[in-house]
Amino acid sequence: MSYKDNISKKLAARKSENAFRTLSVREGLIDFFSNDYIGFARNKELQKEIHSKELSYNLEVCNGSTGSRLLSGNSALAESVEQYLAQFFKVESTLLFNSGYAANLGVLSALPQKGDTILYDELIHASLKDGARLSFADRISFRHNDLEDLERKIKKSKGDIFVVLESIYSMDGDQALLKEIIGISKKYNACIIVDEAHSTGTSGAIGQGLVLAENVADDIDIRIHTFGKAMGIHGACVAGSKELIDYLINFSRPFIYTTAFSPHSFLSVLAAFEKLEQSASVIEALNKNIQQLSAGLHSFEGYIASTSPIHVLKVGGTDNVKQLATAVQESGFDVRPILSPTVKKGEERLRFCVHAFNTKTQIEELLAALKKNL
Ligand SMILES: Cc1ncc(COP(=O)(O)O)c(C=O)c1O
Repeated sequence: MSYKDNISKKLAARKSENAFRTLSVREGLIDFFSNDYIGFARNKELQKEIHSKELSYNLEVCNGSTGSRLLSGNSALAESVEQYLAQFFKVESTLLFNSGYAANLGVLSALPQKGDTILYDELIHASLKDGARLSFADRISFRHNDLEDLERKIKKSKGDIFVVLESIYSMDGDQALLKEIIGISKKYNACIIVDEAHSTGTSGAIGQGLVLAENVADDIDIRIHTFGKAMGIHGACVAGSKELIDYLINFSRPFIYTTAFSPHSFLSVLAAFEKLEQSASVIEALNKNIQQLSAGLHSFEGYIASTSPIHVLKVGGTDNVKQLATAVQESGFDVRPILSPTVKKGEERLRFCVHAFNTKTQIEELLAALKKNL
């Protein structure tokens, strides 16, 4: 069979399962879908601040970074942004990556070695799984937030052990049981890696992430903070010890073999985090909306309790969830179905992201549209 036959066969299978994906643009609907949790992606003031930084820095090389960080792409600006982030996340050092995907690949492909074990929560993001696949370590998943399963598997693990979690799980919206997992992992001297993609900018009074909000930073070896969600821009950083960052600079291929951030991106990170430091009231507004949506969804069958911006109604079945999504969209709300293989077959779901900018009435009307169509 040629590769072309393989393409046709796989696409035909997707279509026959009603799971064929296409890119779509929908305009004019109320956003209960995007990761723009605190409205930074659409914040005109932030746009102006980024632009005014570009003018005031007046950099000679102003458009592209011209190379990778180890060659011509490094700059005083790059290093100052990393120092700023280290202070913000209360950590020794940080290292910027071009995206959360690259950061996760960069950590997991480089750190665990042959003979080591990566133990990961079954619900971690694809980027962490892909990173683990690129390493030569053994990979074993444990059941989601299941402490007994984790302990059973950690006991049998070989070599250095890496426990991989998300602080807020992207497809369920629930939180890692950080304190309990730390308790188990420390007994076996495991390194804990936490992806803070959905808690950066949302957890804690000024959005420093769940690890700091729960006061467990001393027990977490590595955090990954991404900037494409609540921060409203793009990129990510790995936060950890100075030695860890030196190691990544030397051995992490997704860091080494790529063109560095553009000056615009470095300045966007500075401006967005400076804004976040002044956004406690926006995070409070987000939390109020989270409570309202969660209280309204509580009585619906299939709702997974969540205190994060991500809320999920498990519907089950591709056709069912697509129909429900279309009906809710026709009522004016941008919500999307999450299908297999992004989630397990039978666990297809409608996923809602609530934002600081959603109004009380919008949330009430979304709940009414759901009730009418369920
Ligand atoms: C938990 C998690 N980690 C990492 C990523 C990847 O981050 P980025 O979009 O910056 O590549 C995502 C985004 O989809 C995510 O949800």
